Amino acid sequence: MTVKLQVVGDPVAHSLSPQIHALFAKQFDDEVVYGRERVRSGEFEVCADAFRAAGGLGMNITVPHKEAAFTYVDAPDAYACAAGAVNTIKFLDNGESLGSNTDGQGLVADLTERWALGLVGQTVLILGAGGATRGVIVPLFEAGVSRILIANRTATRAEHLCQALRASLPPAAHLSAHGLDVSLDDESIDVIINATSVGLEGVGLNLPVGDAQVRQAFCYDMGYGSNAGFHRQVRAVADTSVDGLGMLVEQAALSYKLWLGHQPETQPVYQAVRSMLLEDS
Ligand code: ATR
Repeated sequence: MTVKLQVVGDPVAHSLSPQIHALFAKQFDDEVVYGRERVRSGEFEVCADAFRAAGGLGMNITVPHKEAAFTYVDAPDAYACAAGAVNTIKFLDNGESLGSNTDGQGLVADLTERWALGLVGQTVLILGAGGATRGVIVPLFEAGVSRILIANRTATRAEHLCQALRASLPPAAHLSAHGLDVSLDDESIDVIINATSVGLEGVGLNLPVGDAQVRQAFCYDMGYGSNAGFHRQVRAVADTSVDGLGMLVEQAALSYKLWLGHQPETQPVYQAVRSMLLEDS
């Protein structure tokens, strides 16, 4: 029987998820139809109910519906609860909906498996304090990171995020909030992750660290393609800087496993999607 999947968001036209999931399905000869639907703010519930009623098995949820999806699902898992957001829903035969958030585990898989980065004991600086940041904090600590510094343009938002996450973290986890305009020059930072939405506009981020820190850190942009503004900003200085295409593929693979029960091989799909992006640019 054909399995019905879809991604919803706004905008969603440029989502690579249909191509990624089609490549996963090929690996197993799964019969999958993966649609893409533009859904406006406030219309998520109606759309999810309709998809469930039409026999849909799984949904990916992207901006701006991840928080609405968290409220919608019957059973959010621990990652969804820590993130306060859901990017994957599975509808069960009994009508129940399970919600997960695979973004943080996808990031960790990309860093540790694709880029062979050891995270244990590391200090990570995350730029931004929105939903993208919230989704990755708990998985990074679970992967062994010892300190996370969150630096945000609006420092109070970073402080609120730290407070909100405290209860989900082990007591030894060091999490601190900063403004983007402060100097973190004295900090020894191993990994810098851009989780702001700066990208397309080409505006340079005001970094709280100097060139010497950028040079020796592993720099990672959660954006990819034309949205990887931070990657473009630092790559001339940093010894290592990568974009977030691998995270996109890894989080998709984790969603696929939740729906269909088997874990796709991600490296050939990563390479295929990378080629598609290069053809577009
Ligand atoms: P997402 O769910 O993708 O994280 P979001 O919740 O809207 O989206 O958060 C966007 C993040 O990018 C915020 O941390 C935002 O900073 P503020 O909290 O100060 O708004 C950050 N951001 C957006 N544009 C920025 C810019 N030009 N310079 C610095 N940070 C920016």
